[in-house]
Amino acid sequence: MKRTPVGKLLLFGATGDLAQRMLLPSLYGLDADHLLPETLTITGTARSEHDDASYRAFAREALEEYLPKDRKDDATIESFLARLQYQALDATDLEQYHLLSDKVGDVAGGLAIFLSTAPSLFEQVIGGLVKAGLAGDTVRIGLEKPLGYDLASSREINDTVAKAFPEERIFRIDHYLGKETVQNILALRFGNSFFEPVWNAQGIDNVQITISETVGLEDRASYYDGAGALRDMVANHMLQLVALIAMEPPARYGVTEIRDEKAKVFRSLRQMKPEDVRQGSVIGQYMGGAIKGEIVRGYDEELGKDSNTETFVAIKAHIDNWRWQGVPFYLRTGKRMPTRRSEIAIQFKPVPHSMFQGRGGLLQPNMLVIRLQPEEYIQLLVMAKEPGLDRDGIRLREVPLNLSLDAEFAGKRRRIAYERLLLDLIEGDQTLFVRRDEVEAQWTWIDAIREGWKANDLKPKHYTAGTWGPAASIALTERDGVSWQDD
Ligand code: BG6
Repeated sequence: MKRTPVGKLLLFGATGDLAQRMLLPSLYGLDADHLLPETLTITGTARSEHDDASYRAFAREALEEYLPKDRKDDATIESFLARLQYQALDATDLEQYHLLSDKVGDVAGGLAIFLSTAPSLFEQVIGGLVKAGLAGDTVRIGLEKPLGYDLASSREINDTVAKAFPEERIFRIDHYLGKETVQNILALRFGNSFFEPVWNAQGIDNVQITISETVGLEDRASYYDGAGALRDMVANHMLQLVALIAMEPPARYGVTEIRDEKAKVFRSLRQMKPEDVRQGSVIGQYMGGAIKGEIVRGYDEELGKDSNTETFVAIKAHIDNWRWQGVPFYLRTGKRMPTRRSEIAIQFKPVPHSMFQGRGGLLQPNMLVIRLQPEEYIQLLVMAKEPGLDRDGIRLREVPLNLSLDAEFAGKRRRIAYERLLLDLIEGDQTLFVRRDEVEAQWTWIDAIREGWKANDLKPKHYTAGTWGPAASIALTERDGVSWQDD
């Protein structure tokens, strides 16, 4: 893959939360390791008034707060800040965009734009960029979610962006794809020979994916209350995980090959019908409770008004193709759960016949657990015989075969997902970015679920903060004789 680094980066939302917590620390991290093009300049823009000096001071504070201690180095911070400049912009005012292009300067050497904006502003921002000459052949654009709130709005955004940028220059960000352990799913599946032969409906009974968070609304009330857990987490991150687990082996590690296979998975997701949503999904909203000994308020109370937005969702999904016929994918995500965890659990089928039956030995089907965060490990639960002379029968026990990626790669720096994604954007590698057809297939599936909720007048069930969601989510799997992996 040919990489063509740009000479300039333009960050929209440069004073926002994402910029402070992720983008600036990530760019600093890349700079510290000499991974940024040497002469790359970074222009920040947002509504707030700053000049270059005050923006650098702002960025310095963000780095002070969010960089890990061992990464802070005064000289490196100084040289990183020297790359930064700033232009205030009212994104709704087309007349102001020439100020931005004046500040950015000549883009003949390539410009990468990182755009995170409310869906309602896309039309104006894209129009402004075109007017100011910031959308030409040498410009690529990275788009941060939310890219719409349903299929129709996402199409609208995609159409708007497509007027100025061809698909090869659009980089839709799903930060889960920047996570090392998420990419490791590909290595595990396609770099080893022993899983793939059983990685199908013959070998696998069910798949569970959990992304649980302990945080609540944080400072994102206006966005989150309009979104809810299904749109915020399932429509993007969880479905990307589903795709990586379910996709066919791509012929090459290539932009087209990988995204083609993911898109096929999204198109194979079984659409939920209104009559299926009660059995196939559960929504919840947290009430006050305690997490790790700390008292936390309920969602309504944090929000300051009543709301029917779901902060928890569990879904039983199906992929209608040969490989996955009859294998449920149970997805679950929520705020204010007992622990922060992203995990995939693959439950294999039992052995066809147990030779130990007559001798008292009980077998558990194998399970593969891929823990994405906070720890990074892969664990295969296998049956072993307990030591002994077996006079009272053979005792078998499930034991973990552990691969701790944390320990195995202890000396390797763990990078923020955005480091990887920003570098790929700067260098022009689209492999870990989401293609238009993927996004639209994701929304098609999500919209059907939301329509089902509406048709059934489904409201979130309450759950106490610090628990694993409403009891109904347990029933969702137990009906099939399956238990969620909680420990
Ligand atoms: C974001 C969601 O996309 O992902 C947040 O908008 C969520 O609500 C976050 O907290 C989770 O990301 P991570 O990397 O902490 O698992």
